[in-house]
Amino acid sequence: MKVSQYLPLALTALVASAAAPRKYKKRAPSPFVSTEGDQFVVNGSAFPFIGTTAYWLPTLNTEQDIIDTISNMSARGIRVVRTWAFNDVETIPENGTWFQLVANGTTTINDGPNGLQKLDKVIDIAEQHGMTVLLSLTNNWNPRPLFDNLTDFGNLTLRRDVTPGTNNTHPRNFLSNDFGGMDVYVRQFGVSGQHDEFYTNETILSIFKNYTTQIVSRYANRTGVFSWELANDPRCHSSVAASDDCTAQTVTRWHSDVAQHVRSIDPNHLVSSGSQGFFCVDCPKLFPRVTPPPPQTSPAPGQRRRSLPPPLTRANLLKKRRIARKRNREAKRAAAAGSKSAVRIRGNWIATPTRRQNDQDLGPAFDGSQGVDSEDIFNIPEIGFGTFQLFPDQNSYGVDDPNLTPFENTVQQGIDWIQQQAASAASMGKPSALTGFGLVTQENSPFFTPFNTSVAPFGSDSGQPITQQPFGVTDEQRDDAYQQWISTGIEAGLRGMIQYQWGQSGFTAQAGTTISPDNTETGQSANDDETGQSPNDGYSAQGVSGISVMDILGQAAQSFAGDS
Ligand SMILES: *[C@@H]1O[C@H](CO)[C@@H](O)[C@H](O)[C@H]1NC(C)=O
Ligand SMILES: *[C@@H]1O[C@H](CO)[C@@H](O)[C@H](O)[C@H]1NC(C)=O
Ligand SMILES: *[C@@H]1O[C@H](CO)[C@@H](O)[C@H](O)[C@H]1NC(C)=O
Ligand SMILES: *[C@@H]1O[C@H](CO)[C@@H](O)[C@H](O)[C@H]1NC(C)=O
Ligand SMILES: *[C@@H]1O[C@H](CO)[C@@H](O)[C@H](O)[C@H]1NC(C)=O
Ligand SMILES: *[C@@H]1O[C@H](CO)[C@@H](O)[C@H](O)[C@H]1NC(C)=O
Ligand SMILES: *[C@@H]1O[C@H](CO)[C@@H](O)[C@H](O)[C@H]1NC(C)=O
Ligand SMILES: *[C@@H]1O[C@H](CO)[C@@H](O)[C@H](O)[C@H]1NC(C)=O
Ligand SMILES: *[C@@H]1O[C@H](CO)[C@@H](O)[C@H](O)[C@H]1NC(C)=O
Ligand SMILES: *[C@@H]1O[C@H](CO)[C@@H](O)[C@H](O)[C@H]1NC(C)=O
Ligand SMILES: *[C@@H]1O[C@H](CO)[C@@H](O)[C@H](O)[C@H]1NC(C)=O
Repeated sequence: MKVSQYLPLALTALVASAAAPRKYKKRAPSPFVSTEGDQFVVNGSAFPFIGTTAYWLPTLNTEQDIIDTISNMSARGIRVVRTWAFNDVETIPENGTWFQLVANGTTTINDGPNGLQKLDKVIDIAEQHGMTVLLSLTNNWNPRPLFDNLTDFGNLTLRRDVTPGTNNTHPRNFLSNDFGGMDVYVRQFGVSGQHDEFYTNETILSIFKNYTTQIVSRYANRTGVFSWELANDPRCHSSVAASDDCTAQTVTRWHSDVAQHVRSIDPNHLVSSGSQGFFCVDCPKLFPRVTPPPPQTSPAPGQRRRSLPPPLTRANLLKKRRIARKRNREAKRAAAAGSKSAVRIRGNWIATPTRRQNDQDLGPAFDGSQGVDSEDIFNIPEIGFGTFQLFPDQNSYGVDDPNLTPFENTVQQGIDWIQQQAASAASMGKPSALTGFGLVTQENSPFFTPFNTSVAPFGSDSGQPITQQPFGVTDEQRDDAYQQWISTGIEAGLRGMIQYQWGQSGFTAQAGTTISPDNTETGQSANDDETGQSPNDGYSAQGVSGISVMDILGQAAQSFAGDS
């Protein structure tokens, strides 16, 4: 049986218990999204959501294009769209949207029609459609090869310059990592030029807070804002290296400081991190948990309270992995022996080279090496809910089980990651949301641009002879993985899941802007007389194959938002 055939059923059953409609009458219903125990609440009702990402939403050329996009999302039952509330430039571009000029020791906000008025429109239109917008305030990533001095991939010349008329590989704002962000501040104000100067230099901190003050106060009273995300994927390093002093605590301290700042300006909206959710199992905490709070909401009638999982420690993590591997090995043996009781875990067993793993190695998602301790961040009082992301093409979430195929490992590690995050949130009594997930398909692989580069390594603009082995999963595998991750998330008690990223065509084109011509290779700027499609950095749900992703989101949203 194909997964898609039983998914809606599974979702409906799960949702009936996990996210049963429940009214919250303790306080007067607020039109702002807040939390009650481990649920999001709005207008007096629980607000579990399926969301999507369109970082490019404020760069669209006409109001009608924004309306078309948001109404298409809304028609699928999507309630939250995540977008960038920053667009930093170092020189004023000839065309296109920009929000802040950061240059020559000063910053200037653009609140004109190609500036913050674009973001105003997004919020207005979202409110008109009963949608909310999750706004991210900056980005960890902004590769600028000429500055960052990355070496080349073979013959590949890494180049992108936002100056019009120079050799742009893509139109400005085409890639999610081309909206400025932390490294703009470091380049313009930093002394050492290291990425973590963004987190620690007092001058940079006050300049960034100045930006957040203006953005956050502009929308503080708007019900169309879901929450403030402090940064997309914050960590110690970017394409720019970090100093030796940067630890997870550096990044946690920054979160605490900026979260307090945002809450002081805007008490109406929740604040969240936006990190990948990496754990640091052995790290000392700045915000230690004193006692586990009792769950504040009572279970729905007929439902047992979810029992708390064992705490995330090195010993527990390694033990869990050993047990899983043993179980998979036994299932494989039983399957080979043709036993009737054989459990086939996701399809046929395919022999994979058995590589001896280091059993003591926690891996970068758990050992703090990225400079993120999501549990410590989660415990900051001003952080309203837990966030994490899932991008297996770019991060490692565990140790491969030699009993499983590569695809099975990808899916399984995603499932484990979701369960681990939900468990961590449950022990904290706050809601948890997956704020970005995606898998690169073979069809999308020519557009796949890793977050630390500005060129697609498998694309025609890479300058590489196309001798690369095929990259990416099939569309069917992607759909299978998305469905399994979504049902796992619902079952485990996540309160929101945001796919990365939305795709749409038929937009108004304008030379020099982010919109590519329809029906031709994406990544080029369309001319004024063409219609165009949204950017694709390798994850876009676009065209015929994208519709199946939208259908999956629509099905999940329908069941998930059971109370509306
Ligand atoms: C989005 O909306 C436009 C215009 O309303 C429509 O033509 C298009 O088919 C829709 N796209 C999707 C993916 O639903
Ligand atoms: C910054 O200063 C330099 C030197 O005075 C000047 O050439 C440049 O145009 C300035 N940049 C901006 C964005 O004002
Ligand atoms: C804060 O931002 C505004 C607008 O961009 C700018 O005019 C002002 O100089 C900034 N203040 C500081 C202290 O950087
Ligand atoms: C909350 O209620 C207001 C007023 O009825 C409505 O405009 C808004 O869309 C609702 N919010 C959500 C997220 O449903
Ligand atoms: C790149 O790094 C090399 C070696 O450190 C240095 O000589 C060169 O000036 C750098 N280039 C740029 C553009 O920064
Ligand atoms: C660079 O490109 C040339 C011609 O396309 C090719 O012969 C050569 O092997 C390439 N070198 C590398 C390092 O990829
Ligand atoms: C653009 O790239 C081509 C080929 O590398 C080069 O010849 C040309 O000078 C570049 N133009 C600019 C404006 O940098
Ligand atoms: C922080 O940045 C400012 C502005 O560039 C600089 O003057 C100052 O020396 C930096 N502070 C430290 C401790 O590096
Ligand atoms: C939000 O609304 C409240 C009450 O109307 C008002 O006091 C406050 O100044 C507003 N905040 C902002 C940032 O506009
Ligand atoms: C980008 O990040 C990946 C994964 O961390 C790393 O393997 C790769 O070397 C990085 N590439 C560049 C150009 O920084
Ligand atoms: C900016 O837009 C104008 C008018 O559409 C166009 O002529 C010009 O080439 C564009 N500039 C760039 C750098 O694309």
